[in-house]
This record gives sequence, structure tokens and C-alpha cells, in this order.
Amino acid sequence: MTAAYPALRLRRTRASAWSRSLHREIALSPADLIWPLFVTSGSGVEEPIASLPGVSRWCTAGIAARAREAAALGIPCVALFPNTPPGLRDPLGREALNPDNLMCRAVRAIRDAVGGDIGILTDVALDPYTSHGQDGLIDDAGYVLNDATSEVLVGQSLNQAAAGADIIAPSDMMDGRIGAIRSALEGADYHNVQIMSYAAKYASAFYGPFRDAVGSSGLLKGDKKTYQMDPGNAEEALREVALDLAEGADSVMVKPGLPYLDIVVRVKQRFEVPVFAYQVSGEYAMIEAAVAAGAADRDAMVLETLTSFKRAGCSGVLTYHAAHAARLLGA
Ligand code: PBG
Repeated sequence: MTAAYPALRLRRTRASAWSRSLHREIALSPADLIWPLFVTSGSGVEEPIASLPGVSRWCTAGIAARAREAAALGIPCVALFPNTPPGLRDPLGREALNPDNLMCRAVRAIRDAVGGDIGILTDVALDPYTSHGQDGLIDDAGYVLNDATSEVLVGQSLNQAAAGADIIAPSDMMDGRIGAIRSALEGADYHNVQIMSYAAKYASAFYGPFRDAVGSSGLLKGDKKTYQMDPGNAEEALREVALDLAEGADSVMVKPGLPYLDIVVRVKQRFEVPVFAYQVSGEYAMIEAAVAAGAADRDAMVLETLTSFKRAGCSGVLTYHAAHAARLLGA
């Protein structure tokens, strides 16, 4: 039941800042953010990424400093992605299994610097380690093999868990990998290591700057459409999520973010589980390009887009603007 105009004037509650604040349905906080960080080798190194203005790759000491900064800002978790030196990339992505690879070193550096005060999410997929830039092993025709890849992903996950990762986040879209990783983690007594599955990950045009950041863009031939989802599909996203939950995912992710908010809403309403979204590199770059063109106010755009993820039902958002947003939110 509701009154009609003029008894009802929806503008009444909007008339002053205190009232808007009182009636706000959801509020964004730094605790909703996950900050993706790119790791590079060397020491004392910061490498700005041209296609992601304002974002750099950091050596492991720099990553530890960013993690300390995140903790101080109230950001609960960082997500790590390595830029593996070209000489360590091969067709099988073997560097992913090296207990002393960049990713594992970064995890340990964060742990040494920040202890348990921050969550560390590690990406599971082979694209930062393969010489062909695909997320898995390929056959002679270049097709990404499912089951053989999944076996390597299990080894990669155990390697990251041993280094101290808190959340294993498979971003590769192989079938069956969540179940395989979960049973391997249980078998190795990593009972409290979480799995955040990139469950509904689309073959998107918004990943370009990320591929520059991890150094795979020059290597990748073709696309990832035989494993990542078709942007036209929504029912299929629900099937992907259902499978990953049944296989033991603790939370699921939708990716990219803003173009797929409808998927976030449907996943949340159907499954009532923790849902995360990844505001990906191309989304970040679009905002920064609009700002550089004088077409938009960065702070307002950052807060509005991140708020929309929460409104859609997300528990949290991976965003390259995490530290900036946390500062704006007055942490
Ligand atoms: C690959 C991976 C990608 C991203 C995260 N993990 C790119 C891809 O699938 O090619 C994209 C993130 C971004 O664009 O910010 N495993």
C-alpha cells in the first residue's frame, strides 16, 4: 500500500543531505573492496602500466608495501597477478608449479610484512606462465585441453596454498577444476583455504590492459572463446555457478563487472551465496580515459560504479581503484 501524490512526494526524503544519508539503502565501505596487484621481478622496481594509467607492477617488497597500505585503509584482501619473466614461460606453464615463483614470493613477502591482517587471493590459471598466453595447455591445433590443464591447476593451487594463500581463485574456466582443487586442498589438510571461483567469466573485450600488465598480450594468438563464456548467455552463467558451488566453491565471481550486473543479480537471487564482481582492467581504463578527456569526475564515477555492484548484490568488488576508493570513503 502506498499513498499517491501529493500525499506522497518521493522528493521529501531527498531534500537534505542528512535525510538522504538516513534513507540510503546500501552504503559502500572499504571492507567491500579487493585490490588487484601486479607482481614483477627485481628489487626496488615499480613499472607503470601504460594502458592502466595509475597502476604499476611492483617487486615483491613493493607488493608488501601495497598490502600494508591496503590493511591501513581497511581493505580486507589483495589479489595477486604475476608478470613472469619471458625466459620462464613455456608451453606447459611449468613456472606455475615452482614453489619460489613470483606469486609465492609475493605471498610470503606480504605475510612477513602484514601477518594475518590481510587476506591474500591468488589467481589460478596458466596465462601468466605459458609462452602462448592461453590459460591452459594446448594441443597441436591450439585447442586448450580441459582435463590436462585441470591437473596442472591443482598443482598450482597446492603450490599457492603452501606459500600461504588464503583464497584460491581459479580464473581459467576449465570444467571440473573446482572439484579437483577442492579435493586436493582437503587431501593436503588445507581445510580453511577458500576457493573463490571465477564462475561466470565472459570472453570479453575488456581484458586488454590486464594482458599488458601480466605480459601475455604479445604472446596470445586468437581468443579465449572455447573456454570463456559467450556474452549473449545468462542461463549458462547460472549453470556454471551451480556446478562450481556443488564442487565446493565458497564464493563465486562474475566478470567483467558493469556490463554483467544482470548476471550478478540473477546469481544472487537464485543461489543466495557470496557473489563478487571484478571491475576489470578495461572498465578501469574507460573511467581513466573519460577523466583524461575532461568528460567525467573520477571520484564520483568510482564511487557510483562501485556502489552499483553492492546494490546489485555483491559481497565485494575487485577493483584497481580500491585504494583510491577507500581513501574517498574516509578510511
Ligand atoms: C586470466 C585473467 C584475465 C583477467 C584475470 N585473470 C584475463 C583473461 O582472461 O584474458 C582479467 C582481469 C582484468 O582485465 O582486469 N586468467
